[in-house]
Amino acid sequence: MAKITKLDDIVSLCKRRGFIFQSSEIYGGLASCYDYGPLGVELKSNVRSAWWKAVVQMRDDVVGLDCSILMHPLVWKASGHTDKFADLIAECKKCNTRTRVDHLEEKFAEQAQEHTEHVAIDVAMAKAQDLTNKVCPNCGSVGRFTEPMPFELMFETQMGANVDDSMTLYLRPETAQGIFANFRNVLDTTRVKIPFGIAQIGKSFRNEVTTKAFIFRTREFEQAELEFFCEPGTDEEWFRHWKEARFNWYIGLGLKKENLRFREHDADELAHYAKACVDVEYRFPFGSGDWQELEGIANRTDYDLRQHQRGMRTLNKWFENDRDLTKIELSNEAEDYQSGPLSYFDDEKKQRYIPYVIEPSAGIDRSALAFLVDAYDEEEVRGEKRNLLRFHPALAPVKVGVFPLVKREGMPETAQNIYNDLKKYFNCFYDEKGAIGRRYRRQDEAGTPFCITVDGQTKEDNTVTVRERDSMEQIRVSTDQLLSHLREKLDL
Ligand code: GAP
Repeated sequence: MAKITKLDDIVSLCKRRGFIFQSSEIYGGLASCYDYGPLGVELKSNVRSAWWKAVVQMRDDVVGLDCSILMHPLVWKASGHTDKFADLIAECKKCNTRTRVDHLEEKFAEQAQEHTEHVAIDVAMAKAQDLTNKVCPNCGSVGRFTEPMPFELMFETQMGANVDDSMTLYLRPETAQGIFANFRNVLDTTRVKIPFGIAQIGKSFRNEVTTKAFIFRTREFEQAELEFFCEPGTDEEWFRHWKEARFNWYIGLGLKKENLRFREHDADELAHYAKACVDVEYRFPFGSGDWQELEGIANRTDYDLRQHQRGMRTLNKWFENDRDLTKIELSNEAEDYQSGPLSYFDDEKKQRYIPYVIEPSAGIDRSALAFLVDAYDEEEVRGEKRNLLRFHPALAPVKVGVFPLVKREGMPETAQNIYNDLKKYFNCFYDEKGAIGRRYRRQDEAGTPFCITVDGQTKEDNTVTVRERDSMEQIRVSTDQLLSHLREKLDL
């Protein structure tokens, strides 16, 4: 029976094999920041490509975008982030550790409570009335907390060299707002018609209070977001569509169905912009096996486009108030907002409206972690432990390992030729060092689906062995059939 994966096994494999390293390790490391090594960067790039392929390339109704991380500060006033994007925290009076109030565990709690991403601050406040039985996760003291207080999650930075033209900006906490800010540009420059979506993958930043579990929750991370614009009234249907499509994406890339589930948000957990929200949750191996958010799918209604119309009306006020967000309130909505600058004109119905938005929002790093955890396996083969990553071929960092059986009799030259041919099509790895069994094990651990070995028979009949990672089965394939054989098996 397959062993239950522990996070420590994954962290150790990632370090040992060059998937993921602690950031700035030579200086003692920087908490909650990670670097992707040679295998990790391939894995992450494959996760990105698989998302882009499913969400953009294979659809006729989605286009892509790549926005800057720094945006006009009014974007964050309009979106609600400058006023509402904070976590409620309490400080332990004994050890001074600050913890998110909604992450504090009860003393005698039988079950670990479910950890949400970010709850709207007023709801969290209501939930955090009584901390008398809550335990400090750092020193274990019970009920010794300060009054809860809000902690801003956006990172601030300064732009500009001169005092009179410099201003405070924010590192974006989500990629979504860049899409809303470009809605008009995309409408004006392409032939998209509602219903259609705009997709983006990119870095986001949040000064998270609780970072945990390796790359699960970090302060710098990558999101893959789709804002799908539709006619009001059709939003619930599109919500169902994307819920199903996104769940099936994970299954199609090999996540085990029993480790995935949906969790509908209760009304009091909904973000301030959402009419409905469902999380795709994965059973991550933290603690005793914990369901955690992998992706959120929200019905954002027409909230964001309406808010940005208000933001655009606030621009003069912002200039008049020394470009200081703290001195201004967002302007009211125009009475004819349905025909405002971010409205859509439906040619067929001769009608103008602000579209509704369905937003599937995934994390590239968090997905990579789920794929790593799900693919990890250990088994005993002929009395020896074999570690392997059973990656879907589309996600495997290296698709094919190429080896000469021994370093003589022309085998390295033949293997090099095969390697040089195949690397035009797939990411391949050439290895001639050490016993063949060890070379197979190294590729198993990297998740490489196929290994090719040139041996004594190759010279006689132009065949090589092709070994499959999961079953370890070996077959002989003639060298002129190798490319088509691998293409078919890898489905690439
Ligand atoms: N635009 C909506 C939005 O940002 P979210 O639930 O806050 O929604 C969406 O984030 C996804 O982004 C999460 O499901 C998760 O996969 C990823 N994510 C969010 N915060 C993260 C963090 N601190 N570290 C890693 N991934 C994160």
